[in-house]
This record gives sequence, structure tokens and C-alpha cells, in this order.
Amino acid sequence: MRRKLVVANWKMHGNLERNRLLLQEIVAGVQGLHNADFAVCVPHPYLFQAQQMLAATNVAWGAQNVHQAEQGAYTGAVSAWMVADFGCTYAIIGHSERRGQFRETNECAARSMKLAIKAGLVPIYCMGETLDEYEAGVTEAVVASQLDGVLNIVGIKLFSKVVFAYEPVWAIGTGRTASPGQAQAVHEFIRARIAKHDLEVAAGLRILYGGSVKPANAAQLLVMPDIDGGLIGSASLAADEFVAICRVANGAPGSKRRV
Ligand code: PGA
Repeated sequence: MRRKLVVANWKMHGNLERNRLLLQEIVAGVQGLHNADFAVCVPHPYLFQAQQMLAATNVAWGAQNVHQAEQGAYTGAVSAWMVADFGCTYAIIGHSERRGQFRETNECAARSMKLAIKAGLVPIYCMGETLDEYEAGVTEAVVASQLDGVLNIVGIKLFSKVVFAYEPVWAIGTGRTASPGQAQAVHEFIRARIAKHDLEVAAGLRILYGGSVKPANAAQLLVMPDIDGGLIGSASLAADEFVAICRVANGAPGSKRRV
């Protein structure tokens, strides 16, 4: 049985005081929910704060990116080991905002993923098509190339240590979301493609959906058999909304392994 996982992606939002209030409310809101996993991915400067506030709770924390090199002359960059020093469980890798705004490639994501795993982190690898690609009907081809691009470098065995996230770029921050059926179809496609390499890895893999997930649409999405949780952007900045989504995940029927 795959446990649902709900991950907040705060992006470049927050300050010490706001974070403190938000984390306090999230911790209080998810206390006692033990049927699903929860995490908050904060900007790098706030990892220490997250560690201090979340250490004794059922909310894990993580980073939003790690560099593709172990260390060196990379001004402004942060390594997997640096974030691991602050007790992170997760690191988001290959988010479409990194791909689009910072020109990060599949190869770069693959290198970051390998280092994240080496540093003891669970990478959350993001994939998804742009609006143009969606409208051109090439979603599967795009997702396949993003998947194969890392698979070739990371290797199938390490995929057992990775969480995937399907995030159609046209649904991120737009209020427009993939229908549960559309999202399920892509998740199923991802799992089937991985199953061609390793059935067991595919069956155990958690694939999150991201892109305007809100309390109002979470239940329909999370009930889908191949949707194992959510990566939540804007709704994660309001404690009541994020907690509501966590509650849905906690109560959702567990997805059975099926490949
Ligand atoms: P959104 O962001 O929930 O605001 O659409 C999701 C993400 O980018 O991870």
C-alpha cells in the first residue's frame, strides 16, 4: 500500500514571523493524522527554523532545490549535504520554475537527484508539459522524455528512493487544474513506463499531482488510484487550506498496488 504524501512548496514566500505562525497552525492542524505523510519545503534560509519547529512533529521538511555538484565554486548555490545538515527529508528537483526560469535540464536534475540520494534525501522529481505542449497533444512524449532523461543517468534501482510529481505547467498557479481523469491518465502512463524497467519499483513509487490543488478539488484527485498525494503551491501558504488538503489525504482510501 502506498501512503499518501502531501508536500507544501512555499516557493519564494515567507519571513521568520509569518513562517512561525504558518508552521504552528499546520502542526496543530495535522496533529493526530497518521494515515498519510506531510512535509513542507521551505526556502533555504528557513530550513533551520523548520527543523526547530517541526523536529518533534508528524510534519517533515525539505528544500526546494539542490545544486548538481557536491561542492565547489558555485556562488549562491546550495548543496544536498548542506540541506541534509538541517535534517531535511525531501528536496524538490526539476520543478518547472527551475526548468523555465533557471534553464535547468533533465541532465542537471538527474545529477542533483543522484547527489540528493547520496546525501540521504528523498528527491521529489517534477515533470509536466507546458500549455503549448498540452494543446499540441504531446503530454506523454514530454513526460516520457523528462522521465527517460533522468532514468538513463540515475538508473532504475535508485528510483525506489524517489518521489515523482506530475505538474502540468499550465495548471501551476493558474487556478486551472487537470481533471482527475486527465491527471490519472498521466500518472498511469508514468507508472507503466517505469514498470517496463522494474515492476516492483513502479508499484511502490509515489507519484504526486501538483497544479492548483485546493481543498475543493483534492478529494477527487486523491481518490484516483495512481495519484499518491499532492505538491501544493499557493494553497500551502494558508494553513487552513493546506491542513484541509492533508485531512483529505489522511482519509483517502489507500491506493492499492497495481501495475
Ligand atoms: P500551485 O503550485 O499549487 O500554486 O499551482 C504547485 C507547484 O508549483 O508545486
